Amino acid sequence: MRSLRILHVTLFGAVPCVSAIDLDPSKPDSIKSAASAIAHGMMNYYHGNVTNTPETIGVLGPPYYWWESGAMWGAMMDYYYYTNDSSYNEVLTTALLSQVGPEQDFMVPLHEKDEGNDDQAFWGFAAMSAAEKDFPQPTTGDYTWAELVERLWNTQVQRWDTDHCGGGLRWQIFSFNNGYNYKNTVSNGAFFQLSARLARFTGNQTYMDWAETSYEWCVDLNLITPDFHVYDGTDLTKNCTDQNKLIWSYNAGIFLYGSAMMYNYTNGSAIWQNRTEGFFNATANFFNPFKNATDIMYEPACETVNTCNTDQFSFKAYLSRFMWATTLIAPFTTEATTQLLTASAQAAVQSCTGGSDGETCGVRWYVEGWDGTWGAGQQMSALETVQGLLIAGTVPPLHSWQVHLKTNPVTTTAPVPSETSSVKPTKKSTGEVSRKIPSLLLWGMSLLSTQTYRVFR
Ligand SMILES: *[C@@H]1O[C@H](CO)[C@@H](O)[C@H](O)[C@H]1NC(C)=O
Ligand SMILES: *[C@@H]1O[C@H](CO)[C@@H](O)[C@H](O)[C@H]1NC(C)=O
Ligand SMILES: *[C@@H]1O[C@H](CO)[C@@H](O)[C@H](O)[C@H]1NC(C)=O
Ligand SMILES: *[C@@H]1O[C@H](CO)[C@@H](O)[C@H](O)[C@H]1NC(C)=O
Ligand SMILES: *[C@@H]1O[C@H](CO)[C@@H](O)[C@H](O)[C@H]1NC(C)=O
Ligand SMILES: *[C@@H]1O[C@H](CO)[C@@H](O)[C@H](O)[C@H]1NC(C)=O
Ligand SMILES: *[C@@H]1O[C@H](CO)[C@@H](O)[C@H](O)[C@H]1NC(C)=O
Ligand SMILES: *[C@@H]1O[C@H](CO)[C@@H](O)[C@H](O)[C@H]1NC(C)=O
Ligand SMILES: *[C@@H]1O[C@H](CO)[C@@H](O)[C@H](O)[C@H]1NC(C)=O
Repeated sequence: MRSLRILHVTLFGAVPCVSAIDLDPSKPDSIKSAASAIAHGMMNYYHGNVTNTPETIGVLGPPYYWWESGAMWGAMMDYYYYTNDSSYNEVLTTALLSQVGPEQDFMVPLHEKDEGNDDQAFWGFAAMSAAEKDFPQPTTGDYTWAELVERLWNTQVQRWDTDHCGGGLRWQIFSFNNGYNYKNTVSNGAFFQLSARLARFTGNQTYMDWAETSYEWCVDLNLITPDFHVYDGTDLTKNCTDQNKLIWSYNAGIFLYGSAMMYNYTNGSAIWQNRTEGFFNATANFFNPFKNATDIMYEPACETVNTCNTDQFSFKAYLSRFMWATTLIAPFTTEATTQLLTASAQAAVQSCTGGSDGETCGVRWYVEGWDGTWGAGQQMSALETVQGLLIAGTVPPLHSWQVHLKTNPVTTTAPVPSETSSVKPTKKSTGEVSRKIPSLLLWGMSLLSTQTYRVFR
C-alpha cells in the first residue's frame, strides 16, 4: 500500500520521480528485494575474493580503512539473518576468518597501521553476532566465533590504561599511529558493548564487571553526559579534562545497544532500563534535520555541511543496526524505533537512484533523490536501516548454551529458536588522522602529537 513511490509524493510534495528500488515496509518480500538490491550494490565494492591476496582478502581497500570492512561483514551477517539470503555467506565467512590474525584475536600485522582499539572491535562485533546468531562455526582453526571475541576482549582489557585519566582505552594500540594520546569514546563504548554482550552470552561475571567499569569511566569523564549525549573523546595529555564534544550517531548506537544488553542480562534492572531509555531518547539528536524531514535519520556533525568523510558516510549504518537490535532485547523501545526507522528506511531507499546501475544510494536521505555521493558506507547505511524492517521475523541473540558447538558440519541453519539472539556491531575510526577531520578542526593539531607511551600489556 504505501509503496515508496506514493510515499515520495506525500513526503516530498510533488515532482514525480521514479525510484529504481521499490519499498513497501509492510511487505516482507518487498523489504527483502530492496535489501537485496542495496546489499548487491555494497558488495560491488568488494573484490578481495577475486584478487585473493593476503593484502586484499577480506578488505575493501582504499579509500576504506580496515575497520569498515569488519563493519561491512557485520552488516552482511545481519543481512543473512534478516533475509535468509545465504548467497554471500561463503564470501562473508572467508573474509571474517581471513582477519583473525596469528593469535586469533583480530590483531592483524598486515593492517596494524590502521588498527586501533575501535577498529579491532568492529571486527569483533561481526564475530559476536556470528556467535549470538549461531552462524555455522568456523571449520578452520581451533576456535568458535565466541572464542575469537573473548580473545579479542582479552587483548583490550590488558590495554585498560590506569596510568592516565583513571582508566579507559586509548584510541590507538600502537604508539606509531596518530591518536595514541587520545582516549576516544568509541573505543571505550565498543569495549563496553562487547563486555555486555559477552556477559549475556557466556554468563561470566568478569565481563559484567568490565561493562560496568568501562561505562562508569565514560560517565566520570563526562564522555557520556547526564542526558546521555555521547561525546567523541578526550586528550590524555590534558589529563582528560576537556572533551571533544562532537556527537556521532554510531557512538549513540553503540551505547544504546550495550545498555540494552545489560538491561536484558540483568532481567530488566531499573538502572539499565533508565540508561537504555536515556540513550534511546538521545537518538533524537540524529533525526529530523529539517521540517520537511520528519523522522529521517542524519549525521548532524557533518552531513548538512557536506564534510562527512569516508568513515562517516557509514555511521548511520551502526545507529540503525543497534537501534533495531535493541528492540529485540529491550522491547519497550520497539514502537518508537519502528516509527523512526520506517520513515528513515523509506527516505534512504528513495535516495538510491544514482550511478550507472540507477540504484546507488546517497548519504543525505532528506533531499529528493540521489545526492551524488556513493560508496560502501552509503550502501551500508541504507541496508541496515532497510533490512531491520524484517526484525519481527528474527530470533533474539542466543546464549552460549543455545548454539551449536564446533565440529558441526557447515550447514546453513536458520537461527535456533529460543530466547535471545542477534545484534549488531559497529562504528569505528582509526589511526589515520584524516578520519578525524572534525576533531582536528576543533582541536587543532595538539591531539596528533606523537608522544609515545608504552602499550599496556
Ligand atoms: C566474489 O563475491 C561475489 C559476491 O560479492 C560473488 O558474486 C563472486 O562470485 C565471488 N567471486 C569469487 C571468485 O569468489
Ligand atoms: C531459508 O533458506 C533456505 C534455503 O537457503 C530454506 O531451506 C529455508 O526454508 C528458508 N527459511 C525461511 C524461514 O525462509
Ligand atoms: C571469564 O572470562 C575471563 C576473561 O575472558 C576469563 O579469564 C575467565 O577464565 C572466565 N571465567 C570462567 C569461569 O570461564
Ligand atoms: C535516570 O536517569 C536520569 C538522567 O541521568 C537521572 O536523573 C535519574 O535519576 C535516573 N533514574 C534512575 C531510576 O536511575
Ligand atoms: C589529573 O586528574 C586526576 C583526577 O581527575 C587528578 O587526581 C590529578 O591530580 C590530575 N593530574 C594533573 C597533572 O592535573
Ligand atoms: C535472570 O533471570 C534468570 C531466570 O529467572 C535467572 O536465572 C538469572 O539469575 C537472573 N539474572 C540476574 C542477573 O538476575
Ligand atoms: C525519555 O523520554 C521520555 C519521554 O519524553 C521521558 O518520560 C523519560 O523520562 C526520558 N528518560 C530518560 C532516562 O531521560
Ligand atoms: C528539505 O529541506 C532542506 C533544507 O531546506 C533541503 O535542503 C532539502 O532539499 C529539502 N528536501 C526536500 C525533499 O525538498
Ligand atoms: C530480554 O530479551 C528477551 C529476548 O531474548 C525478551 O524476550 C525479554 O523480554 C527481554 N527482557 C526484558 C526484561 O525485556
